[in-house]
Amino acid sequence: MSRFDESLAPALQQAAESALRYRRELHGGPQCAAEDYAAQLARWDTGPLPAQGLAAQDVIRQLEAHAAPGLHATAGGRFFGWVTGGSHPVGVAADWLTSAWGQNGANLLGAPAAAASEAVAARWLLQLLGLPGDCSVGFASGATMANFIGLAAARSALLARVGWDVEADGLFGAPPVTVLIGEEGHATVYAALQFLGLGQRRVRRVRARADGGIDNGDFERALAEADGPVLAILQAGHLHTGAFDDFTRLIPRAHERGAWVHVDGAFGLWARACPSKAALAAGVERADSWATDGHKWLQLPYDSGFAIVRDAEAHRRAMTAAASYLPAAAAHERDPTHYVPELSRRARGFAAWALLRHLGTDGVAAMVERHCALARQLAELLARERGVTVLNDVVLNQVLVRFGDEAGAGRGGEEADALAAAVIERVQRDGVCFAGGTRWQGRWVMRLSVIGFSTDADDIRRSAEAISSAWRAVRPGG
Ligand SMILES: Cc1ncc(COP(=O)(O)O)c(C=O)c1O
Repeated sequence: MSRFDESLAPALQQAAESALRYRRELHGGPQCAAEDYAAQLARWDTGPLPAQGLAAQDVIRQLEAHAAPGLHATAGGRFFGWVTGGSHPVGVAADWLTSAWGQNGANLLGAPAAAASEAVAARWLLQLLGLPGDCSVGFASGATMANFIGLAAARSALLARVGWDVEADGLFGAPPVTVLIGEEGHATVYAALQFLGLGQRRVRRVRARADGGIDNGDFERALAEADGPVLAILQAGHLHTGAFDDFTRLIPRAHERGAWVHVDGAFGLWARACPSKAALAAGVERADSWATDGHKWLQLPYDSGFAIVRDAEAHRRAMTAAASYLPAAAAHERDPTHYVPELSRRARGFAAWALLRHLGTDGVAAMVERHCALARQLAELLARERGVTVLNDVVLNQVLVRFGDEAGAGRGGEEADALAAAVIERVQRDGVCFAGGTRWQGRWVMRLSVIGFSTDADDIRRSAEAISSAWRAVRPGG
């Protein structure tokens, strides 16, 4: 006889219907949430937790009603804010099952299916990204954690080489590690250094090229000046411009110096999965560790990231927690927990396996190719508008836009900053598409990231038109 409480079944069905309804309406609707945080908080905050519970269906209904006005269309075709993947339905379906199955993805005896799906998804991922097949892969919550894990493995290996056991003895009295990182490195990589006791400030910041990539000459100078063990951090895909560091030249140089090279490739590493774009990241396969996201270009639902390490032993040493009650995997087996900080954790392998299997290598390549072409198209359409300037060479999927003529820029840039802010505000209010802003080379500019799986040429045309008309509405003189 079933022990399942059938009165709960409608809650699951209701959630599925609600999700379908949401996805069906997403395309035509506004891409920006109707309510901001303050309005949402007022809606959610109905007082202390009542003593009486609420029936399953009622609570799911209320959840949907509360959340609906506060949801950005991040899974929609015209959402270009931050770098936001589209939460592909196949990933979502696999993720629902992951929750329904309730597996604890910690280890292979406790969750054999979860561990096996991760092991295979890890192999496919290395194949797709053209990285050495014997690297270890940790399934993390995102690129922030993946960077943390890669840098922890680096710290372990570099200090072990000079006779220091950082896992046992920590950093007190340890030989100093010189960290080289570009001044345009992502804030979360600096944060990972902070978490690891390597410090945000004590790094050697390497100068950036005009496109945000690391300056080769300054990197080589920093290498030559460095003392002791060296950790060099490079980037595949600059957050704003999509620019790549010169891996072909810099990784061998760093290795000649005995450095460990870590690459933050949160979205840019996916260029490797697309034959026509792979040259952008040529030579990156020689690095020692890499971080990338599943919830960006692969379109997995949040949260998903991958930490990839060439020296699997260092990776494992940096992350493993052992206890007598935890079953130990055999030497040839892969325990998911040994490659991430957490023990109990979401079984992320199911959704990764399902989406990789659904898209295949051709599907991922075509998607990356399409997004890059659409980003270029968006840039071209915007650049036709008088007073609109695309600031970056659109090598990948990121587009930076300035509003106002050079005269405005000449007045200290404040006028151009204000115009960009006004256009962004208007675009978000109109809701046809969602664009964000950022500070680039001292100026406030619009920033567009074309990365949602459902974006097509029509979305790009509509979005370019919406941005152009917002600009016409706010520009001086109309
Ligand atoms: C280049 C880069 N590195 C790291 C991150 C952090 O990734 P996550 O937000 O998945 O932790 C991002 C996020 O946009 C990124 O673009």
